[in-house]
Amino acid sequence: MLLLAVFIPEEKISEIKNAADIVDVVSEAVLLKKAGKNHVGLCPFHSEKTPSFTVSPDKQIFYCFGCGTGGNIFSFLMKQQGLSFPEAVRALGKRYGIDIPDRPLSPEQKKKISEREKLFDINRRTMEFYHQALKSSAAGQVARSYLQKRGISQKTIDDFKLGYAQQGWDNLLNHFSKKRISPVLLEKSGLVLPKKNKAGYYDRFRDRIMFPIFDASLQVVGFGGRVLDDSLPKYLNSPETPVYNKRRSLYGIQRAKDKCRSAGSVFIVEGYLDVIALHQHGVENSVATLGTALTPDHVRLLTRFAGRMVLVYDSDDAGIRSARRCIDTFWKEHVDFRRQDVYREENADTHILVLPAGHDPDSFIFEKGPDLFMEAASRAPGIITFLMNCAIEKYGLSTQGKVNILKEMQAPLAAINDRVAQGLYIQKLAERLGIAENAILERVSEVAAHITKRGFAADAPAAAADSLYRSGSVKPASEGQHSQTEAIGNRFERQIVAMMLQFADILPEVVKLNALSYFENKTLKNLGEYILKSDPTSVDRVSELMSRADSDQKQTLIASLSMVDESWNMKGCLRLLGKFVENGQKMRDSGVLEEQIKAAEQSNDHDLLLKLLNQKQKMAERSEKQKSAALTEK
Ligand code: GTP
Ligand code: MN
Repeated sequence: MLLLAVFIPEEKISEIKNAADIVDVVSEAVLLKKAGKNHVGLCPFHSEKTPSFTVSPDKQIFYCFGCGTGGNIFSFLMKQQGLSFPEAVRALGKRYGIDIPDRPLSPEQKKKISEREKLFDINRRTMEFYHQALKSSAAGQVARSYLQKRGISQKTIDDFKLGYAQQGWDNLLNHFSKKRISPVLLEKSGLVLPKKNKAGYYDRFRDRIMFPIFDASLQVVGFGGRVLDDSLPKYLNSPETPVYNKRRSLYGIQRAKDKCRSAGSVFIVEGYLDVIALHQHGVENSVATLGTALTPDHVRLLTRFAGRMVLVYDSDDAGIRSARRCIDTFWKEHVDFRRQDVYREENADTHILVLPAGHDPDSFIFEKGPDLFMEAASRAPGIITFLMNCAIEKYGLSTQGKVNILKEMQAPLAAINDRVAQGLYIQKLAERLGIAENAILERVSEVAAHITKRGFAADAPAAAADSLYRSGSVKPASEGQHSQTEAIGNRFERQIVAMMLQFADILPEVVKLNALSYFENKTLKNLGEYILKSDPTSVDRVSELMSRADSDQKQTLIASLSMVDESWNMKGCLRLLGKFVENGQKMRDSGVLEEQIKAAEQSNDHDLLLKLLNQKQKMAERSEKQKSAALTEK
């Protein structure tokens, strides 16, 4: 139970990296075949029929072109066997005969770890206490019959460790005082509260059905408690504690995660009882958010287990709000580069399932059964299509209706980071509305630049600088290599970072031209900066960068960008970099120009305005020319 209890000395990690071979280690779990420089096999992290899981002995990394999982030898063990980093290091140390001494923790670290462990322990004992009360106490009879009335089976009660907090102000307090646990610690766990005006404490949960909340590694982090009748508040939840953060927690994750992995998808619902009803009917890949909207942390957690996410709602309105929030979140935070392709319905992505009026998942599955639920889920549209459907439904296809639909869709469409996907959706909307694609494209590019800064919930003012990237004055290399890396940022920026990873000779040039300052995509820019800080002479630079990466996302991104093989040469690299910087400079200039135009408009300076518009026209013509030049070059 000693989580992270020891630090492993840096030299030991290098020693292990020198001794271990990723092909050996992966081979124990995956049947690998040699293919050129690399080895390929069926991915252990998602189900597939043709091998897209690739291991590079040169770079000592792996990457799956199907699901986008990637990393080095340590992350492979961590992901495949569910180990923590120190555990993975130890496992490898053992295998290669490298002895790892324990280094003691600082008192500060010890205190923090021991407090967390104590809280987990209290939570677990509380769960047992409530669970026993539900199962066998006389007072638990009311709760037993309530759950029975709701159709919840004995097995489900055991699986989810449901419980009952009896009436009374000090049942839990007394239970723990007998066990010599201090009320101060109990207060930290959120299970008891200090009395307002006098000394002492009282139980937070009284006369409620108790739902313990677990994290993915099966620790009890908090509780929800439901009343047995119509009184209010219907639910009471644990407050945030050192071990409970509701923006990171998902109810049911501990039982859902394996099924999510095997199904490749997850249902995200709103209520405790929705999760429970779904599980009881065999739909075990379902979790609930705990009184919050889906957060970036939730998404990050879920992408470890499933590609396809289905958000289940009981009304269009809730669905629309959530769809918009999702787009906004994905866009602003660049949650995870793998999720950037949420907008591509044919890939792993995010869907919205709205149940028939009057139903929540709980009532739906009890009444109609799992088959109808799964059937409805299979028809759930992707986020963008869902918003399109709702807008068309709401406004109709009259001329004014179409104008309104366009207005409503321009921000969501502009938020799509992937140009190809965006093009496809624009095409789709144009078809459905019977209007020209260009008309939509124009509206979308109006808001595009503003979105980068603010996220799309903000009203994007019109007339932003048009993207020169879109005009394609430079031809990006290697199209259609694979879907995963294509999803983040633009192809150009990805290419630059891939080059930085694979061709260290270019790094001084990147610094000299200040190329990173032109990056639009924060994640890629951040990665670029991280690479610049690395030691360019290190032999296993890529694997090294991975070990030090501060997030799973960064690690996977490094894997994906390193795995795409290109033959880099100085001349080609310099050209790519030069064009990128030139383009970036132009973008900047046009941005400045737009600002000036706006100012001139506002101050009614017609002469100046005319001059500026002329300049803009010239710039557009120039880039048009370059574009056709680039086309003939091909
Ligand atoms: P039932 O009404 O018993 O079917 O429960 P439910 O889980 O379906 O509840 P509902 O759909 O009303 O609410 C969904 C989720 O929102 C719940 O599971 C809770 O997490 C949260 N919630 C609902 N009501 C309250 C409340 O009064 N207080 C708090 N803190 N959370 C609530
Ligand atoms: Mn309900």
